[in-house]
Amino acid sequence: MKFFVDTADIKDITELAATGLLDGVTTNPSLIHKSGRKFLEVVEEICGIVDGPVSAEVVALDHETMMKEAAILRKIADNVAIKVPLTIDGLKTCKALTSDGCMVNVTLCFSANQALLAAKAGATFISPFVGRHDDNGQDGMQLIEDIRLIYDNYNFSTEVLVASIRHPIHVLQSAKIGADVATMPPAVIKSLFNHVLTEKGIAGFLADWEKTGQTIG
Ligand code: E4P
Repeated sequence: MKFFVDTADIKDITELAATGLLDGVTTNPSLIHKSGRKFLEVVEEICGIVDGPVSAEVVALDHETMMKEAAILRKIADNVAIKVPLTIDGLKTCKALTSDGCMVNVTLCFSANQALLAAKAGATFISPFVGRHDDNGQDGMQLIEDIRLIYDNYNFSTEVLVASIRHPIHVLQSAKIGADVATMPPAVIKSLFNHVLTEKGIAGFLADWEKTGQTIG
């Protein structure tokens, strides 16, 4: 499963990219607002740090303006994936852009039928929002299972990108279902490294090592 980080914070992206485990980045207008940075500048900076797909979202609601915005975003770098909302105009834009060789991430997906439409529109990624689905009293992970099944039934190449992840259990469940990508807030990625027994084990080994009086090298 690929790991994307869901942020526009350069410090977090740089830190996670240095682990060698980061496969891409997703942003959205709220994350850009939170960064306090200029949209095009911050996307360009992220593309310079991460080789994998960097999702940048259009804000227009009509196809024609979405295409104009996408043309500007595409010029930033080859690894920009244009993010479009799951609407008729969004999917028209998806079809046009992917037919022209551009990566597209279809966002704000809340049903398996919407995911089916996105795959038919040639989406590179479909982003079902599991956390927001859970918040709405529905089962976010069931949605991922349904989409996985449908995509496998028809050999769709669209990658299932689990979004709106809130905790490590969402990550574990995504991996068990066979999602292609999980995009996570930096804190969730960092939490995956931690286990109290790992900490305890290191402390015990180091204490005993000190008693040996040895050094390596
Ligand atoms: C994904 O691309 C979205 O930016 C993101 O995962 C939304 O997460 P949220 O529901 O926590 O805002």
